[in-house]
Amino acid sequence: MDGQEKGPQQGMAPVAAEGTSDFTARLARLPASRLTGALGPMVAALQGLIRDVRPSRAEFRATLGYLTELGHHSDARRQEWVLLADALGLSALVEDLNSPRPEGATPNTVAGPFYRPDAPDRAPGATISLDGKGLPLAVSGRVTALAGGPLAGALVEVWQANGQGKYENQEPDLQPENNLRGRFRTDAQGRFAFTSVMPGGYALPSDGPVGRLMTSLGLCLERPAHIHFRVSAEGHERLTTQIFDRADPAIGRDAVFGVKPGLLADFRATSLPGGQTGRALELTLVLCPQRQS
Ligand code: BEZ
Ligand code: FE
Repeated sequence: MDGQEKGPQQGMAPVAAEGTSDFTARLARLPASRLTGALGPMVAALQGLIRDVRPSRAEFRATLGYLTELGHHSDARRQEWVLLADALGLSALVEDLNSPRPEGATPNTVAGPFYRPDAPDRAPGATISLDGKGLPLAVSGRVTALAGGPLAGALVEVWQANGQGKYENQEPDLQPENNLRGRFRTDAQGRFAFTSVMPGGYALPSDGPVGRLMTSLGLCLERPAHIHFRVSAEGHERLTTQIFDRADPAIGRDAVFGVKPGLLADFRATSLPGGQTGRALELTLVLCPQRQS
């Protein structure tokens, strides 16, 4: 520097004035794409949030520290980021926006983190309880089209927690591999059946940043007892849903906003073949036709 103030150099185009934090203005000069189209509104919303909330530097650093901790609690077995999206109701919102269901179709809801695509095929009526522990449950269902006709040959994937509210992939040392999971095919009348045990309600993990946040807000981590179903049939939209025990005390305060009126069912007390007392669940899953894209 020679100590003299210099103006713009001769022959160089002047750089357009840019606000110090105006990332959206930079994006606007890039070729339009789905990424820039999503990032622009996202950054604008975050800037608006910062203007509204006016965090101190320490609060901003603490927020970044929290997001870092979420990453440290995420790996192949545990997805704390997914859990945050679930607990804030964002996963449920994405589900609703992507799969609007017409009147009469079974509503979809969040899949959750415990689905396994490699569960075994099981024979009609087989049990999915490989350790036989818990209150026996007989499930019989039908898969139909929106117009009411049976859907034969549909694939019905099922997964659930045990009576203590634990999935087999949460406790691989305590439960047999693929316990309480199975894949079934519907018969010519669209029917499927299996036996199982009554699922227990459970709580989201409380030992990580999401659990800590919810607990510090006094919000509940509970999920009412449910069974997950994923149904695929030719020419129909795949249905991913959960059927909830209407009698579960946590039915009105699901931590991940998965409960919908059309997903409540009675797990009726009954005498099962062989004289055992248990529960019975009867359900109809209604699929809607594939939309043209
Ligand atoms: C579940 O239903 O398995 C589940 C869904 C969202 C978060 C955690 C668990
Ligand atoms: Fe679940």
